[in-house]
Amino acid sequence: MKTESKEQRDQRMAWWRDATFGMFIHWGLYSIPGRGEWVMNRENIPVEEYEKLALQFNPRHYDPRAWARLAREAGMKYMVLTTKHHEGFCLWDSKLTDFTAVKTAARRDLVKEFVDACRAEGLKVGFYFSLMDWHHPDGDGRGAEDAAVRDRFVAFVHSQVRELMTNYGKVDILWYDVPWPCDAAGWRSAELNAMARDLQPHLIINNRSGTPEDFGTPEGHVTAEAAGRDWEACMTLNDNWGYYPADTNWKNAHEVVKLLGECARGGGNLLLNVGPDPEGRIPEESQVILREVGGWLRRNGEAIYGSQRARVGWVNFGLMTVKGTTLYLLIDKWLGPELTLGRITGKVRGVRLLATGQAVSVRQDDARIFLSGMPERLPEKPFSVVAIEFEDEPRHGSGPSCIWLTWEWGDPLKSPTDGKDA
Ligand code: GLC
Repeated sequence: MKTESKEQRDQRMAWWRDATFGMFIHWGLYSIPGRGEWVMNRENIPVEEYEKLALQFNPRHYDPRAWARLAREAGMKYMVLTTKHHEGFCLWDSKLTDFTAVKTAARRDLVKEFVDACRAEGLKVGFYFSLMDWHHPDGDGRGAEDAAVRDRFVAFVHSQVRELMTNYGKVDILWYDVPWPCDAAGWRSAELNAMARDLQPHLIINNRSGTPEDFGTPEGHVTAEAAGRDWEACMTLNDNWGYYPADTNWKNAHEVVKLLGECARGGGNLLLNVGPDPEGRIPEESQVILREVGGWLRRNGEAIYGSQRARVGWVNFGLMTVKGTTLYLLIDKWLGPELTLGRITGKVRGVRLLATGQAVSVRQDDARIFLSGMPERLPEKPFSVVAIEFEDEPRHGSGPSCIWLTWEWGDPLKSPTDGKDA
């Protein structure tokens, strides 16, 4: 990669950091059996049998504009589509294989339509691309040992990435997945990514080609990366990425807003998944949840978008995010008109309820901030937000408590029960 100054990098990453919330879309042949995107592997389906799904895959209701509108309504700012998942089926017009949507039943370049739709709705464009490929004859793992196999396979993958980075106009994110069976040296990832950046100078690349690149990808949990490192948590809405109608374990809007808040307080993003059906429709249940989250974000998004890694501790009435000099309390356990906040340093200038702008009374001494005059009951579900304006960036402070109370948990961003829910 060409050397880039911190300022240049900050500029390149700025939209992504502000965006905070994106839509992940897992869609491919696996949507037909409807048992998740690993079905080929989990059920040991032979390639010749699996390939036949491509003769059925003809998504008559595919309307990526509707996906993009939903994403926008949900408050999402970018979309990442599986251009090729582990099954090896290409949703774009790849010249390197016949296993594509263009050369089988659909006869459409589904990626091109996706890109046009994102652009039309003002969303940024992300391409997920699986390095692992269960369909390619050289993708079976021999490449780890056999240099000739590896060379052929790596050349194939590099050429596919080149197609994606060349034929679809500006691409904003390249989201690799599963580098099996090679390591970064085997994939020649440095060269691969240099090529991608050469073709797309503004590109943002994730860490799953074996090199760190621009951001980390905690999967299925929200864990902030080391300070200074960008990250994005990716999460399912039920328990599967690909379409799986028998999986009805949907997260509700409360859980999604909580995840968003957790990402926001750690200065990270949330990439939340939908798994469209074989006809191209996003399940109704997902749509309902996303619209509810979007409604909340329209009123309270100030507490989420563009927030920075919060250098404050934890509370047990909800969680806290920070943007500039404002501390946002995201409250789901409403305590009534009064609330006391300890262990935050900084001089308060004013307090308001975010959704309504209603002013809240505040009094402060050396150790505590006392809020009063707030509504009796939770004004807004699933979280009500109280915005506290400080003179400077609010920070965690130990206050004049006894030794025991000034002892802190390892990570002040986390409550002692975070991550102990198993
Ligand atoms: C995993 C899975 C995959 C999914 C991805 C999303 O690596 O293999 O099915 O696409 O995570 O992050």
